[in-house]
Amino acid sequence: MKDASPQTIYLKDYTPPAYLVDSVHLTFRLAPTATRVLSRIAFRPNPDATSSDFLLHGEDLTLISAKIDGAPLTPDVTPTGLRCTVPNAPFIFEAEVEISPETNTALEGLYMSNGMYCTQCEAEGFRKITYYPDRPDVMGVFTTRIESDLPVLLSNGNPTDQGDGWAEWHDPWPKPAYLFALVAGDLVNHPDRFTTRSGKHVALNIWVRPGDEGKCAFGMEALKKSMTWDEDVYGREYDLDIFNIVAVDDFNMGAMENKGLNIFNSSAVLASPETATDANFERIEAIIAHEYFHNWTGNRITCRDWFQLCLKEGLTVFRDQQFTGDMRGDAVKRISDAVVLRAHQFREDNGPLAHPVRPDSFVEINNFYTVTVYEKGAEIIGMLKRLVGDDAYAKALDLYFARHDGDAATIEDWLKVFEDATGRDLTQFAKWYSQAGTPRVKVHEDFADGTYTLTLSQHTPSTPGQDHKEPLVIPVAFGLLNDNGDEILPTQVLELTKAEQSFTFDNLSSRPIASILRDFSAPVILQRAQTNVERAFLLAHDTDPFNKWDAGRMLAQDVLLRMVRDDATPDSAYLDGLAVVARDDNLAPAFRALVLSLPTEDDTAQALVDCDEIPDPAAIYTAHEALKLHIAQHLQDPLPRLYAEMTVSGLYSPEAEAAGKRSLGNALLMLMSRLDGGKQAAQQYTGADNMTQQLAALNALLKIGKGQAELQAFADQWQHDRLVMDKWFGLQVACAAPDAAATTAEKLTRHPDFEMKNPNRFRAVFGALKSNAAGFHDPSGVGYDLMADWLIKLDALNPQTTARMVSAFDTWKRYDTDRQSKMRAALQRIAATPNLSRDTTEMVTRLLG
Ligand code: ARG
Ligand code: ZN
Repeated sequence: MKDASPQTIYLKDYTPPAYLVDSVHLTFRLAPTATRVLSRIAFRPNPDATSSDFLLHGEDLTLISAKIDGAPLTPDVTPTGLRCTVPNAPFIFEAEVEISPETNTALEGLYMSNGMYCTQCEAEGFRKITYYPDRPDVMGVFTTRIESDLPVLLSNGNPTDQGDGWAEWHDPWPKPAYLFALVAGDLVNHPDRFTTRSGKHVALNIWVRPGDEGKCAFGMEALKKSMTWDEDVYGREYDLDIFNIVAVDDFNMGAMENKGLNIFNSSAVLASPETATDANFERIEAIIAHEYFHNWTGNRITCRDWFQLCLKEGLTVFRDQQFTGDMRGDAVKRISDAVVLRAHQFREDNGPLAHPVRPDSFVEINNFYTVTVYEKGAEIIGMLKRLVGDDAYAKALDLYFARHDGDAATIEDWLKVFEDATGRDLTQFAKWYSQAGTPRVKVHEDFADGTYTLTLSQHTPSTPGQDHKEPLVIPVAFGLLNDNGDEILPTQVLELTKAEQSFTFDNLSSRPIASILRDFSAPVILQRAQTNVERAFLLAHDTDPFNKWDAGRMLAQDVLLRMVRDDATPDSAYLDGLAVVARDDNLAPAFRALVLSLPTEDDTAQALVDCDEIPDPAAIYTAHEALKLHIAQHLQDPLPRLYAEMTVSGLYSPEAEAAGKRSLGNALLMLMSRLDGGKQAAQQYTGADNMTQQLAALNALLKIGKGQAELQAFADQWQHDRLVMDKWFGLQVACAAPDAAATTAEKLTRHPDFEMKNPNRFRAVFGALKSNAAGFHDPSGVGYDLMADWLIKLDALNPQTTARMVSAFDTWKRYDTDRQSKMRAALQRIAATPNLSRDTTEMVTRLLG
């Protein structure tokens, strides 16, 4: 049971730990419902402490016995921990507790997944394993003994000894408890090796369930590339003899960077051409890199407290984005990241869940593993790098690693490193960490007597608990073109630091065309009154790939808004511009596919809100569908030829070039299916020899209301593969017409393979319902009710996954009164559920607040 009255924790209340840990010895006697955990912890009083209270965290533990320096004692035990009197000198605390991994459906602490034992301790899951100071600024050296009949027994660090039914591991690197991990199971491995640049040999393993061994090769290559890249780009080497990755089917998040023993959601590591799409391959490569990079940014340098989460996550996301850019192309990667940021982080920032990248309070920290902390956190680092320049960035990072290796650090430490390395005052810049909300940057342009004046003004709308906003330091990458499309001012970075600021450029022979916020140089919304002719000009001529793409995106949004408002026919400037790009062989296919994609329906809804209009999801859906048909008709002639040109022959390769061709080919297939009734898609489905082509064809068919035979064939072919069946579940809901989305989802919950305890399966159905905007917001309210029903059921089993999914309701205040009252009622019904978890309670409270 959770606390009756959950407490709010504040950043300003931080105090150092009263006791520090030197070493920890753990013994696990594994049994499904009665695992014994024996701990022997060497504590010493912290000289910097402000209190001498000895308090250990512990939840859902049965205390069997406890000792201090060998003498038995009876501590004061509460539902959240244990307290006792201790010597004012170093001492040994020992405890034996009993836990029940098999009944742990929250998937936090030690739990079981398909007969395998595994752990998830970040953020505060170690306290469900044993009594411990479960906070990241307490770092100890862990030795772990596992006793079990299962053949594979793993923990952090290096293996030290093993025998029949037991194994011992020792991790020489002091670490906080959230990086502890244990795995025991009947697993097979995909082994490899890596030699670091200083000549250290490292054994690499990916451990999976028997039957999945054929899906590890790609992940292993990604791991080796990551290890090489971190040496080459950041000078960071690996520091243990072994690096293990384990794939787990039941996992709340993507993956976890436990020292030397990364645990992955199987969807984030297993891949084969037949079962994984190009998008899956790319995501796997990025997550493997992300978790590996954490070894330095997260593990060697960890966080002082959970408010500093962005210190490791923002930096590690930034590093994995750089890596993917290097592996697959910077331009396409930057555009894809901006799409995600705008769709998810801007949405979060615009609603009741808005919070600073470094929050100043929380009830349940698991609720703050958000796009804001992660992706906006990464954007802040990108801005810093752009402001100080690449060389200074490298210098600052070297200083960061040198100065803080072994520390539990803060954002202040991070910024100080940049100040010391560059001499720059970052006081104003630091506000990016504490101020929530997406800044709006308004553009005003003037041209007279050969002088172009750019006036930028910034304004950040208020967010919950933060009415007053101050100007931020906004790097605006900027260039000028002349009306022939030649670049007359190459990219330079303007620093917007005031509420309003002007920049002038003179000696110009004619009025230039400005390209503003190149490479998406800051996570802001640019408000620029621009004609579609001017946007089409930038789509055709901008030398900056991001802004070239974004010009097309703004055209599309403008067209969509006009279609929603008064059924207008799409501007030919847009359709003609698209046609030119689609045919331009000088542009990478992946880039062309991105230009052909539309903003999401949710993006269009937010754009209407920004114009003080109430969005109607049904009208937005109709406009999107109509526009796709218009585009298809406009491209009718070249479509079959272009589609054929994107054929990739030979063995499937997940590399960027082949994947890019498939992504353009499949964007064209979607368009073609609106004209040929799905003929080409059905043909592609039949001929497909990889999941990318198979799934895209099925998607195209379902989108036009066809494909029932293929859907059945797909299930017959893949019923044995959980990850592929997740796609089957999700796609049906994603492709359902607005009035059928909720009923489709409901029907799928009655399918024998719908397993609500498996987060991937639950998310396949309900994540797809959340993303099907017109379906979720169907005026009947059935989408809201179904979502609420299932979140109430899931909360009793898995609070974390429930609390994340409640964010489906985070846009409720933007809609008409009827939808608002239906969504409010759904949220209130969730809120009124007896014994609702702390996680979900915090989320619905913020949503309703
Ligand atoms: N640190 C992990 C990562 O970003 C995420 C784990 C979060 N887990 C959680 N239950 N909050 O790689
Ligand atoms: Zn991370």
